[in-house]
Amino acid sequence: MNQKLMNRYPSIADLRLRALERIPHFAWEYLDSGTGADVCMRRNREALDAVTMVPHFMKGVFQPILSTRLFGVLYDVPFGVSPVGLTGLMWPRAERILAVSAGKHRHPYTLSTAATEAPETIGPLADGMGWFQLYPPRSAQIRRDLIERARDSGFTTLLVTADVPIASRRERQVKAGVVVPPKITPLMLYRCAIRPAWSLATLIAGRPRFRGLEQYIHGRDMRDMLQFIGQELGGGLDWDYLKAVREEWNGPLVLKGVLHSAEAIEAVSIGYDGIMVSNHGGRQFDGAPAAISVLPEIAEAVGQRAKILFDSGIRGGLDIIRALALGADFVLLGRGFMYGVGALGRRGGDHVAEILKADLTNNMIQLGCRSIAQIKERGARAPSPS
Ligand SMILES: Cc1cc2nc3c(=O)[nH]c(=O)nc-3n(C[C@H](O)[C@H](O)[C@H](O)COP(=O)(O)O)c2cc1C
Repeated sequence: MNQKLMNRYPSIADLRLRALERIPHFAWEYLDSGTGADVCMRRNREALDAVTMVPHFMKGVFQPILSTRLFGVLYDVPFGVSPVGLTGLMWPRAERILAVSAGKHRHPYTLSTAATEAPETIGPLADGMGWFQLYPPRSAQIRRDLIERARDSGFTTLLVTADVPIASRRERQVKAGVVVPPKITPLMLYRCAIRPAWSLATLIAGRPRFRGLEQYIHGRDMRDMLQFIGQELGGGLDWDYLKAVREEWNGPLVLKGVLHSAEAIEAVSIGYDGIMVSNHGGRQFDGAPAAISVLPEIAEAVGQRAKILFDSGIRGGLDIIRALALGADFVLLGRGFMYGVGALGRRGGDHVAEILKADLTNNMIQLGCRSIAQIKERGARAPSPS
């Protein structure tokens, strides 16, 4: 652990403030925004803050064990990285940084279908810790090809994203100039100029491209690619489609973006191994409930037959404990890791992992829990779904 870094940035909130100073406004808005009036994003946070647990004392001296087994793999910690698309826009080579760091800290790194690096590049860097996220392509041929490429590149677990039936409007992003096609305006150039570290890193790495998808797209400019993503990925998901993915992927398979226990039950009945309770970090539907508020009922419905994964709003070790106590087996973060990379570049993934480990350890001792299993047994007071 780098103590100097820890003193300067002891929390993800500190990394977020530093990232805000280093990432150009349009890319920042892409990372940091929700949708609509950002109500769902705030609701995630408020609901997490409302989860309380009663500490037990008189446990003597102990060092909590953070490792946990998921889908037959022993991970060093109960957290990992959620898929984030257009990653290189926010920080050049962010996928490489996070994959290498995940391999080192032995936690999962999920590569998005819409990432700016190809699975063939990232799979080996993640050193067995790679998961792959599928935005369901409408073409069965492209779907099969992506699944095969993910498998051949060493990704062990597949996440199918359910919660993007249509691109969200994301008003903050539109206002910041994250539009299709991107417009190079004097204001945008100015915003790059006042973020020299990002601009230099982008000059070296080259403009962000959807490298995993390029081979399916006619034309190479951003407009062609974003049109392809809008028209060809997502939108066509139904239960038959999910069954087809089940037949094509023989490893652990997770449905990401579930908020309704009936859908969780259906997914498990067609052979899905995991349910990821998530509202996409409040980026899709501003009227959705806080993900943490529906976690207990979904865990209750399918937790005996499938693994429960969780994301949306997690910003520290205490939040991870809250989700575990309410029924999650594993917890992921999207923005949290990206704030780290935006703030610290190459050291960002490592530092976020160190913050989360220190915070988890400390809060487990405060609670009197020696293991992840004991957190789950302890439980928590849940907020009511709102
Ligand atoms: C900038 C950004 C891009 C994202 N891109 C994807 C994506 O390509 N695929 C996906 O399934 N989810 C995507 N998500 C959602 C995340 O996987 C995750 O559900 C969400 O970030 C969790 O909330 P948190 O950021 O509060 O941790 C994205 C989120 C962010 C912030």
